[in-house]
Amino acid sequence: MSQKVRELYEQFPYPLRDPREEKERLLMPPMDTLSRVNHYGFGGRKVVNDNFRALVAGGGTGDAMIWLAEQLRDAGGTVTYLEPSLASTKVASARAEARGLENVTYVNATISDFAASKPDGFDYINCAGVLHHLEDPEEGLRDLTMVLKPEGVMGVMVYGEHGRLAVTEWRKMVAPLLPEKDLGAQLAMTRALLADLPDDNMLLKMGGGQGFIKGLLENDPEIVDLLLHPVECAYDVHGVYDFAASAGLKVAAFTGFFGFGGTGKAHYAIENLVRDQRILRELATKPLRDQQSFCERFSGAMPLHAFYLTKAKAKAKAEDADDAQGAGGVLPDADLAPYFFVRPNETFFDDLIALSGQPVLIEDGSGNAIDLTGGPDLAKLLSVFDGTRTIEQLIAVLCDEILDRQPIDMNQIAANTLGAVWALFNKFDWMLAALPNGWQQADQQRTLSVRKL
Ligand SMILES: C[S@@+](CC[C@H](N)C(=O)[O-])C[C@H]1O[C@@H](n2cnc3c(N)ncnc32)[C@H](O)[C@@H]1O
Repeated sequence: MSQKVRELYEQFPYPLRDPREEKERLLMPPMDTLSRVNHYGFGGRKVVNDNFRALVAGGGTGDAMIWLAEQLRDAGGTVTYLEPSLASTKVASARAEARGLENVTYVNATISDFAASKPDGFDYINCAGVLHHLEDPEEGLRDLTMVLKPEGVMGVMVYGEHGRLAVTEWRKMVAPLLPEKDLGAQLAMTRALLADLPDDNMLLKMGGGQGFIKGLLENDPEIVDLLLHPVECAYDVHGVYDFAASAGLKVAAFTGFFGFGGTGKAHYAIENLVRDQRILRELATKPLRDQQSFCERFSGAMPLHAFYLTKAKAKAKAEDADDAQGAGGVLPDADLAPYFFVRPNETFFDDLIALSGQPVLIEDGSGNAIDLTGGPDLAKLLSVFDGTRTIEQLIAVLCDEILDRQPIDMNQIAANTLGAVWALFNKFDWMLAALPNGWQQADQQRTLSVRKL
């Protein structure tokens, strides 16, 4: 770890957090929600109990550590928080103390020193916003891979090359003004420039809207981390795959990150971005990573990539990894039980029946929505996705209770119908799949509602 980076995080612990706020709210970074980790990383098969070991590598002021420790509080699992900055550790541990969390171990070291100490393996490793600040990110990823259990999962966030072009340009612009200035003077200059930012500056469009820059202007650690960092690199979609492969890992799925939607994987699916059916069909014949790479450049709004990695030989996720995100309709394994990760609100099923035969919008309150024409059959089918019935049992329900009026072989129709419904409701992670008695904690922020279109 370079001396400059070490000093930066002693001076500006990142992100800016006040332990007193723990009394008011719990931050839940979407990548570290264990229901998602289980679905996309463990193929829905992880039993989370007191053996579960999580590592937060480069934990900063503690967002991921707090959320993981909260989820594991009752299950009995533990979190190791690894962070070289003492100033950051002080904030993180004060936050955990404010919450009465006792399942966290604090390690003041770099990733490479920690890996060299040969700790027991971890089931889940979070490493967000860290590897792109290392002198040798591939070495960092290899070090983390060494401490990951063979079936373990990593949740990684790195800068996105394309969506960050505004920053690249900004850095070129200020480069001649930075030498001779210490970090304090660089920050003062940057603040002055940001205050006068012309409306047409690319920074204002970064991340797909004005919200991003507003957050930036608000605090020093954000400005320093984004615009004045001495060591950084960025990855495009292909770069992410190559980066993973350099450590013998495979990309199980892209996911969402704080501030960029908890359902980020939807942004990587061509069918969500391209309307022209001919182009869509042509794109669908290309390898998944080419499709995702297309999305990255077409959307222009991916300043970062968050994704799950598994060891190349381990089975990746509930759907078969490499096809499912593009095609969307592949069902989870027959012994897994789909469940509503985002719960329907109290009137959801009644509303769906009341609006029978009419186009409706189903939405989750955070800007994600799907439109369809439903009715009693759909309501009945959705109501049996209860986390206890497996795919196999759901197909039987569909055949016996809903499709029994049809005079032809129902099994294939049932599987296709289920696949279509699953694809629709998995698109924004409204449904995930896990073993019937496995880890199935619902989202605490969103609920599903139905309204007439
Ligand atoms: C941008 S912050 C991200 C903090 C946190 N992961 C988050 O997402 O909020 C980067 C963190 O990585 C830590 N870091 C930098 N180099 C590191 C290394 N070689 N090993 C472990 N942590 C490192 C820094 O001290 C800093 O706290």
